[in-house]
Amino acid sequence: MSIHSSQFPDDFLWGVSTAAAQTEGAFNKDGRGTSIWDDFARLNKIKGKETPFEACNFYENYEQDILHIKSLNIPHFRFSLSWSRILPKGTGEVNELGINFYHRVIDTCLKHGIEPWVTLYHWDLPLALEAQGGWTNRAILNWFEAYASICIVAFGNKVKHWMVLNEPLVFTGAGYFAGYHAPGKKGLKNFLPAAYHAALVQGHIGKLIKRLNPNLQVGTTFSCSYNMPYSNKVKDVAAAKKVNALLNRFFIEPSLGMGFPIKAIPVLAKIEALKQPGDEALMQVDFDFIGLQVYTRELIQHSYFTPYLNAKIVPAHKRKVFHTKMNWEVYPAAILEVVKSFSAYAGVKKIIITENGASFDDVLQNGVVADFHRQSYLEKHLEKLLEASRDYPKLKGYFVWSATDNFEWAEGYSQRFGLIYINFKTQERWVKNSGYWYRQFLSK
Ligand code: GCO
Repeated sequence: MSIHSSQFPDDFLWGVSTAAAQTEGAFNKDGRGTSIWDDFARLNKIKGKETPFEACNFYENYEQDILHIKSLNIPHFRFSLSWSRILPKGTGEVNELGINFYHRVIDTCLKHGIEPWVTLYHWDLPLALEAQGGWTNRAILNWFEAYASICIVAFGNKVKHWMVLNEPLVFTGAGYFAGYHAPGKKGLKNFLPAAYHAALVQGHIGKLIKRLNPNLQVGTTFSCSYNMPYSNKVKDVAAAKKVNALLNRFFIEPSLGMGFPIKAIPVLAKIEALKQPGDEALMQVDFDFIGLQVYTRELIQHSYFTPYLNAKIVPAHKRKVFHTKMNWEVYPAAILEVVKSFSAYAGVKKIIITENGASFDDVLQNGVVADFHRQSYLEKHLEKLLEASRDYPKLKGYFVWSATDNFEWAEGYSQRFGLIYINFKTQERWVKNSGYWYRQFLSK
């Protein structure tokens, strides 16, 4: 074993991540309401016309999966709450069966010495709220406040670590601009209000949780990548700076009181028209930690033909570099470079890598999944993470995405990220070799 967790600082945290909409299934069981992803799947928007209706059936299999996590020496488990399982209509009457399910999940974690980390919102907005405009409606501030308050009151005495949002740039960009994620809306007219309100929610709810229970550790998560110019041409360098402002800076900077980086992205300047008195203060929050979700690097090229940004990502397969099944280049130094750039923000106190992992074609043969590429991906990224932990002391943890194979959004079940393989027809689980490798890496 070339690298081992014992080489990291003693207070470094190790975990594994999942999300409700990608694993729970039981989409209409015990009072759960419809989410925008259920609806998006019903509209056949998912590859292979697949749906999250059953997924990994974590709703029934949670104990088995938590025991698997325990068997792999993993001490921290990040999962999310399904808003529509707790508030089927998004607001109003609480579904006690939903609350009771999450008590069972949390109690099972604690019983087995696993620390639960909870994400309040991992993309599965109740459809009833989308019918009222969803994230484009500023009322989401009130809807989210009611939802978060219910969760903190119910679980705040058991769950110490909370994250407000999962990757606001992705759920607003893919869901309200590009349209290939739920709710399938498009254009700046949807993206700008959705992004603006996500920044408001991020700050407002971060402060609300601390007010409700000052003992809790509160953060949020950001998608990020190491963004480089495709060449040293002036136009490519300028394009990379612009894209980096969108991909990496757009949501962290309002939370630090810096406002949106619109000087670097003039085409998004109209977002400022949404400002109301007090909004900058509402967006600002003193998070105890931030979660960074980094998988790869992107090479950015100037492009006259790409609207708005005049910049495009040159995909890995076109650059003939080794890449995952998601067409993401395997570039371990990305994790070091991202930690470096986010550590530079004075207002960032602690960094946890809340997602890092890879999708490859996994083959189950005689009960074994010899996923060498994923094992190598983890090993190489952890070697760079060790370097980062020495150079940037704000870095304090790492979670693998993902615990089990699961529903990969618009890709359906075609992308496997898990340390644990799932046969989705039989719901049988098998730990992959990468899972056993991570267990060995974490062994005391
Ligand atoms: C994300 C989401 C996860 C994805 C994972 C693989 O980062 O996009 O948090 O839900 O499944 O990243 O794409």
